[in-house]
Amino acid sequence: MSAPREQFGSRLGFILAAAGSAVGIGNMVGFPVAATKNGGGAFLLIYAIFVFFICLPVMLAEMSIGRHTQKDPLGAYNKISGHKQPWTMAGWLSIITPFMIAVFYMVITVWIFGYLFNSMIGNLEFLAKPDTFGNFINSSDIFIFLAVVTGLVYLILLGGVQEGIEKAAKLLMPTLFFMLIGMVIFVLTLDNAFAGVEYYLIPDFSKITASTVSAALSQAFFSLSLGMGIMITYGSYLNRSNGVPGAAKMVALTDTAVAFIAGLMILPAVFSFNPDTNTADLSDSSVSMIFSFLPKIFLALQSSIGYTGASVVASVFFLLVFFAAITSLVSILEVPNAALMDERNLDRKTSLLVLGVAMLTLSIVSITSFGMMDFFTSFVSYAGQSKSFFDVLVDVFYDTILPFNGFLICIFVIYRWKRANFNAELDHGEPSYKGSFYEKYVDFSVGTFIPAILLLIFINTVAIKFFGTGLIG
Ligand code: PFF
Repeated sequence: MSAPREQFGSRLGFILAAAGSAVGIGNMVGFPVAATKNGGGAFLLIYAIFVFFICLPVMLAEMSIGRHTQKDPLGAYNKISGHKQPWTMAGWLSIITPFMIAVFYMVITVWIFGYLFNSMIGNLEFLAKPDTFGNFINSSDIFIFLAVVTGLVYLILLGGVQEGIEKAAKLLMPTLFFMLIGMVIFVLTLDNAFAGVEYYLIPDFSKITASTVSAALSQAFFSLSLGMGIMITYGSYLNRSNGVPGAAKMVALTDTAVAFIAGLMILPAVFSFNPDTNTADLSDSSVSMIFSFLPKIFLALQSSIGYTGASVVASVFFLLVFFAAITSLVSILEVPNAALMDERNLDRKTSLLVLGVAMLTLSIVSITSFGMMDFFTSFVSYAGQSKSFFDVLVDVFYDTILPFNGFLICIFVIYRWKRANFNAELDHGEPSYKGSFYEKYVDFSVGTFIPAILLLIFINTVAIKFFGTGLIG
């Protein structure tokens, strides 16, 4: 007989851990840049609608399956379907996906840690040089940073649900929030800061096209950590007396608020650096924004607050992105870890050892795919482009499989588990949800247009990524 299942110590602990998962690199940089490029306030409005009307219902589906089955995602699909296909396959997909996403997220977190370390030891000037990033990601130092980040994540996970994941979230999330507010206040005192705020918030509906709408939905879906099995796994550690709908709403609200506030940090900083910035100057990817653009901005602060002041600001920024990344990384690795523990009856220590070896191996492969090793750098080629191992992980798992997993979970909940069970599970622990308007809305949408939209996004992404032609965008 195995030990009783671990549980979060409190509802607040669960909310903070799930919000810790949701608040990630995507919130800190991806969201502000996407919002600015896609119509400012108009994008924010569409994004908020998607969060509450499309993503939150999917989150409810994931959390309720987890809390009901008290199992990892593969176990949850198997338990409800009676080990029937295609659901066992869907279960496998929902543990392979987070593992693969964890590999590429680990690589980016390692880079962030490297930049944090360099800012703290006074190397800001070096970080701001144009060719630093390219050299940095191919330097041998990366392996040292990989060892440190892996060790840190490993220690948190080894602590278990209450002593590791929950404690880390309770410490890191409030700290992150205060640092973020501190940075916003500081940035708003800079010259021209308000030009950035205006640019960020004033709606420009002319920029809204089919592809910006689809970008807003994808951003919201990733940002809430959906389709990765995380909310199923965290839900499985929730005591059944704790209500799901209210907790999920808090997670969605926190995630959206942090993304919004991060924009009030990034945009004013960008505009104070260059008052004539226009959207074309903003980098497309979060990666180039974090590692190439922002270090230059931080260095420029030395004329007003000195080199040490500028280094402190850069360090606080990288520390806060690092905290956001660590809590996300912990959550995503707990998915395959829970699967190994539940399905193979391993104890946490052994399971983490197996997972750690697999993670390190694939992380090293990814790290070498930026030029260190030709084989992984030019790994495959599709849609007329050569792709590295890292690119393949991003294209296949992050961009393509996530919406497909979201589609599967919706169909599974409504047509296999059945809507009466789904609703009863959500009512349990939160009687006020029963009969509410939102319950009726979730019940209807999860069975109809939400999976339809997610399937459409999946098909469109496959067409764009692998065949070079899309319906939208
Ligand atoms: N919500 C996370 C973010 O916005 O960055 C998404 C995520 C990605 C969570 C990767 C966990 C993860 F490992």
